[in-house]
Formats: sequence, C-alpha cells, structure tokens
Amino acid sequence: MNPPGSPVAERLESLRHEFALDAAGARQLIGRIHEEMRSGLAGGRSSLKMLSSFTRHPTGRERGRYLALDLGGTNFRVMAVELSGERSFEILRETRIAIPGELRSGDGERLFDFIASSLDAFLGESGLPGDGRYGLGFTFSFPVRQTGVKAGTLIQWTKGFTAGGVVGNDVVVLLERALRRRGIGCVSVDALVNDTVGTLVAKSYEREGCKLGVILGTGTNACYSEKGKDGVIVNMEWGGFAGFEGNAFDRTLDAASANPGSQLFEKAVSGMYLGEIARLVLVGMAKEGLVAAPEGPAYSLTSEHLSRLVGSAPASGDGVARAVAEIVSTRSAHLAAMALAAVLLWQEERLAEDGVVAIDGSLFEKFPGYRETMVAFLEELLGEHARNVHVEDARDGSGVGAAIIAAIASGTRPESGTP
Ligand code: BGC
Repeated sequence: MNPPGSPVAERLESLRHEFALDAAGARQLIGRIHEEMRSGLAGGRSSLKMLSSFTRHPTGRERGRYLALDLGGTNFRVMAVELSGERSFEILRETRIAIPGELRSGDGERLFDFIASSLDAFLGESGLPGDGRYGLGFTFSFPVRQTGVKAGTLIQWTKGFTAGGVVGNDVVVLLERALRRRGIGCVSVDALVNDTVGTLVAKSYEREGCKLGVILGTGTNACYSEKGKDGVIVNMEWGGFAGFEGNAFDRTLDAASANPGSQLFEKAVSGMYLGEIARLVLVGMAKEGLVAAPEGPAYSLTSEHLSRLVGSAPASGDGVARAVAEIVSTRSAHLAAMALAAVLLWQEERLAEDGVVAIDGSLFEKFPGYRETMVAFLEELLGEHARNVHVEDARDGSGVGAAIIAAIASGTRPESGTP
C-alpha cells in the first residue's frame, strides 16, 4: 500500500501533473494543429503532411469481388471481399499473419516477397480459377505521397519498420514486381490506400455522413474529406504532429527509437509506445528507490500488458504499475480526443450536421476505459456540438475500404472469378 503522503503516492501525483492535458492545454494544441493543417494543405512547411488520397466518398453502389492486402499493423492481412452494390459487404475469406521481425528491418524486397507469397497461398486455398483476373486494393499504412490512386512513394517508415530500399520508391511498383517474381499474373493492383482512408470509405459505403476515419492502434492517424480540395480525402498523418512537446519520458523514448525526431505525437498516443513510456516511468521510479526495477529490455512492457493491468481486479503488488498504466493511457486518450476535436472544428460549419467518426484499432477497441475517457474529453472540448458527433467502431475497415476503392478505381469492373 502507498498511503497518501508517502513518497510513492507523492511521485505518482507529480507524474499525473507531468502527463496531464487539460481543456486549456488542448485548445492551444488545437490552434497549432489548425496552423499546421493550413500550411500543410497549402504545400508549405508543416509537421502534418496532409496527403491527397486521390479518392472521394463512395456512392454505396460499388459492387463485385475484390482482394485486399493490408500491411501496417502488427498483422499482415489478406482478404477477399464481396461488395453488394447496396451499401453492404461481406468478408468472404481472410488470413492474418504476424510479420516476422526480421522482415520489418531487413531488405525491402524480402518484405514484398513475403506479401506476394502470402497472397499466393491465399489464392491457392481459395480454389480460384487460374484464368480469372482479380482487382486488388493495397492498404499500406505508412506516409505515402500518392501521385494517383494506384501510385505513390513511401516518404518514411514509421512504427518500427526500417526495411531497406523502400523509402523513395513507388510501393505499387515494388508490389507488382514481387507478384511477377512469384508468378502471380491474375491480379491487378487497382488502388493504394492508407488505413485511415480505408476506414472512412468502408464506413461511408455503409451509410452517408462519415466525417473522419481514424486509427488508434499500433500507430495513429486520421483522414477527412477536405472541402478546399473538392472533397478529396486527405490523409493527415497526424502522428507526425510536432506541436506537442511532451515530457522527459517522451524525449528519452524518442531518442532511442528507430526514427528519432519524427512521429512525436504518435509516440505519445499509439499502442506501439504506451508500454515503453510506462516502463521508462517505472525505471525512473526504481532509480529513485521507490519501486523495484522492472524486468526486461526496452519494449518488453506492451500496451496489452497495460491493458490487462488496468482491466483486471487490483492484485497485491501491482498498484504502482497499474497507476502508471492509467496515467499514460489517460494522456493518450486525451491527446486523441484533442486531435479529433481539432479536425472536427476545422470544418466547424459542418458541426451542426450529424456525423460519424469511424475508429479502428486495438487501443480504441480493447483498452479498458479508453473510449469512455476519450469521448468524455471530446464532449468537453466540443461543448453543445458534441451531440452531433457519433464515435463508432470500424472494425476491418482498412481492408474493406481498400476493396471499395479498388472498385471505384476500376469502374466497378466485376471480377471474372470467385475468390
Ligand atoms: C502511419 C500512418 C497510419 C498510422 C496508423 C502511422 O504510423 O504513418 O500512415 O495511418 O500509423 O496505422
């Protein structure tokens, strides 16, 4: 037990202050996000890349069977999706494969060969007619400067990926080369998609009025349809927002990361980093003699561990770790709400209309209390407008959205086979 006034209780209290984000602080950050959005959209210097997706909202009438590849989270996914043409879809088949660590950091060609071989196995198991032609949407959830709906170069890796020979190259070309090396001739890559854009498009296929697609998982990001760009969906890459300064723990984490100096907002918010922030806090407390040093190397404490600590009944001896888990996850939820409010307020005139915010990702879906904390802070920031904002799950959106965008891009060409 750490009674009030004890050195541990006092340190936890000071940590709560170091990690606090109140409404006044959030409003300042919202102002900075708006400045960066303005500059990014105008092509000026900005930590928000504001990338065009070359895609607009779907009509809901897109139809046919499409394949989708989804690379960017913990698992790589291959899917076959049937679009009804009447605002509903069905995932006909899906495989998820954990990406081996050495492929994240090795040679990029091997990573793309892994994608191609997974697709090959998927096609084989589906018993597809070999003479069919299948449209495919490729969800590649990293910052990509698109030059068209199926072309774009990787600007930088995020989320711990460092595979060589990919940055600066067109990832669709790299995929197509890998498909050829594997002898897959029946697939045409019709769309390149960010996971946020897939999420927005999938929700908006089911019904009108979806304003934002958001990911709160391994990484974090959002997209929305920008009136200044004729309704084209803009991938903000909000994980790169640099107007949030963070504290000493954030700086230590950043300095030792695979991409120091970048994705500072993502490093304070997303699931890949929360466990490590908590571990660094506990290491600091151990140095002060307040707790035993946590076991294990960097990143050995994960957001799943934090999630279990917060979600289970208190057990003797886990009080401090639990409090730290709550502190870092609460800040993440507050920062996420702040960024959501920023994008909603950017289109302030539309706040009077009902709108859906579609969110996918394990933090939002699974972390105990995360959604509630986030929504409560969003309500505080939006005031009376909050009642028009409906935060909804968008599970599987990123892959399904890629299939829909492939359908749009190929003019809803029905497939000639049956995945
Ligand atoms: C990437 C984004 C992606 C987000 C969520 C970030 O690291 O830069 O493109 O949308 O993760 O997966």
